[in-house]
Amino acid sequence: MMDVAAAEPVWRESELSSSVDLLALRVVGKASMGPDIVVVTLEHADGLELPPWEPGAHISILLPPGIERQYSLCGESSHTRWRIAVKRVENGRGGSQYIHDSLGIDDVVKARMPRNNFRLVSAERYLFIAGGIGITPLLPMIRDVAFRGLPWELHFAIRNVAAVPFENELRALPNGAMTVYADDAGKLLQLAKVVHTLQVGFKVFCCGPVTMMDELEALAAGWEPSTLHLERFSSAQTVSEGDHPFTVYLEKTGRSVEVGADETILDAVRRAGVTVQSSCREGLCGTCETPVLSGAVDHRDSILTPGEKDEGNYMMICVSRASDLKLRLDL
Ligand code: FES
Repeated sequence: MMDVAAAEPVWRESELSSSVDLLALRVVGKASMGPDIVVVTLEHADGLELPPWEPGAHISILLPPGIERQYSLCGESSHTRWRIAVKRVENGRGGSQYIHDSLGIDDVVKARMPRNNFRLVSAERYLFIAGGIGITPLLPMIRDVAFRGLPWELHFAIRNVAAVPFENELRALPNGAMTVYADDAGKLLQLAKVVHTLQVGFKVFCCGPVTMMDELEALAAGWEPSTLHLERFSSAQTVSEGDHPFTVYLEKTGRSVEVGADETILDAVRRAGVTVQSSCREGLCGTCETPVLSGAVDHRDSILTPGEKDEGNYMMICVSRASDLKLRLDL
């Protein structure tokens, strides 16, 4: 998960003050990696231990311009230091620009506890596919797999062959190999070829541009369920033309809330005075995940697997809606 050109949501004071999972992190390192990536190292601002996390996890950072962005933890598992890598997004709303241009050593930022919607599942062998900064959630996974002695391969598509993010770290890992596909070298990643020889026992993990992941998802249509794992970082459309109003019954609160055609469940529930945590508001981070007690859901998030969406037990209320006229939620 990484900073993207998609809409960068503004957090509200009410959300911030109601949050119980905020950490104060101090910037203890900042270094450029190629022309448009900075690597930031963070420690607990009070010198305390940091919470544990697993490969695939991300944190949400609240930045002074009033924005909140999610970044994958891409360093080694450590109780004292976290590492993120941030690509500059020229047409974003300021998250990456702030980190690149203004965030300095010793600055303190607030961040939410690590969340993981992209877990490394057990397999006999692993195929990793990354596009650009999409390497960040995959790097800790590859490290974990490599040091457990399991076979892996990484197919890494980038623009510039002279600027492969984390190249030395990746090439030093045992039990696998990285193949780089660079636009400027005329070597393009052909996903169909890469997965053509996929053997039994492989699990595939991919993070990169939407087009890459959509193509891979289409290629995976006939695969065993749970073979393919994607980390999407583009925002879902929260409300679209043709959406209809519906009613949400909040079981714990004992209230019914009308959700207009042009608003999200999250906004409607908040308007009714019910406190719900959120972060990305784009169906990307999982913070607003809510149990569904009854009703059909029109899932629009990028987190739940197709199987989880079919089960309909949970939904991301910042983007997903009711398929019909009623939903009953455990709120
Ligand atoms: S707030 Fe991030 S998924 Fe809803």
